[in-house]
Amino acid sequence: MRLLFLGFGTVGQGLAELLIEKEQKLRDENDLEVKVVGIGDMLKGSLYNPNGVDLKGALEKAKAGEKISDLPDAFEGDALELIKATEADMMIEMTYTDIKTAEPATSHIRAALEKGMHITTSNKGPLALNFHELKKLADEKKVKFLYEGTVISGTPLLNLARETLAGSDFKEIKGILNGTTNYILSKMEEGLGYDEALKKAQELGYAEAVPDADVLGWDALAKVTILANTVFGADCKPDDFSCKGITEITAEAIKEAKSRGKRFKLIGKVWRDGDAVKGSVAPEEIDMTHPLAGIMGATNAVTISTDTLGDVTIVGPGAGRVETGYSALIDIINAGGKR
Ligand code: HSE
Repeated sequence: MRLLFLGFGTVGQGLAELLIEKEQKLRDENDLEVKVVGIGDMLKGSLYNPNGVDLKGALEKAKAGEKISDLPDAFEGDALELIKATEADMMIEMTYTDIKTAEPATSHIRAALEKGMHITTSNKGPLALNFHELKKLADEKKVKFLYEGTVISGTPLLNLARETLAGSDFKEIKGILNGTTNYILSKMEEGLGYDEALKKAQELGYAEAVPDADVLGWDALAKVTILANTVFGADCKPDDFSCKGITEITAEAIKEAKSRGKRFKLIGKVWRDGDAVKGSVAPEEIDMTHPLAGIMGATNAVTISTDTLGDVTIVGPGAGRVETGYSALIDIINAGGKR
């Protein structure tokens, strides 16, 4: 499987580490030989070699904050030119999320699908704004459009809902969908200030490039929209749902809630209301005895209410370098490996 990386930031590097570490395992267990033939990054430069680029070298350069285009096989041109020039089986779209325009990621995905490449992406924009168009194009081209990492990183919520729970009807999906805000609320409860907690979340690689997206609830809103579109089959945009973040929650409010046996959590939910699909993001005071109240730090947890099993809850990391990189590994194996 020849791979083209678009975006070689935290998550792209996390995936690269996994591909290097698990090369033999993929070969032995999934009959999958992976070769990275191209890497494009707006800041770090681009590489292309149809016989494979130096992935370890690129990783070292990126970690040292140097340009990967200092290596052999430098490619001159922008992302769309790189996609055009590249012969690959799958594109890994990991550029930054712009939830207002879904660009440039949507254009990258469209161009790669047109060329017949499978896609894996952790970029929420294209899923929240253009899912149905891109899925239709992927179906026409008979390739896979996969996006496990867009909702709670590599914790396999989407695979659980679409594949493992096949045949079930879902009434509601509800949970902690944003790691940064859950981390900040947890740290504030421990006594850290808001700014300090946010800074730590950024250092740990949880926060979005512009952390407003986390703390104002937009990141969770994008995930709610993705769940509505992909799992509930709706055709919704983020603006269709109400959204409130955590910026008005003070340390005093957290303390006061705790004295009443409650804990603030930023809750995203999607539910069926007759024929309509509804969604929302808002802080809720959760009773300490509720399973979601015990989820601390950057961990996420989501409960799916089904007609077959009642409630099924999945708990796991919702952000992070390797954790989100892993989501693409799942998709790569699903697209080209034996299971
Ligand atoms: N900023 C996001 C979070 C990353 O904190 O959950 C994953 O979308």
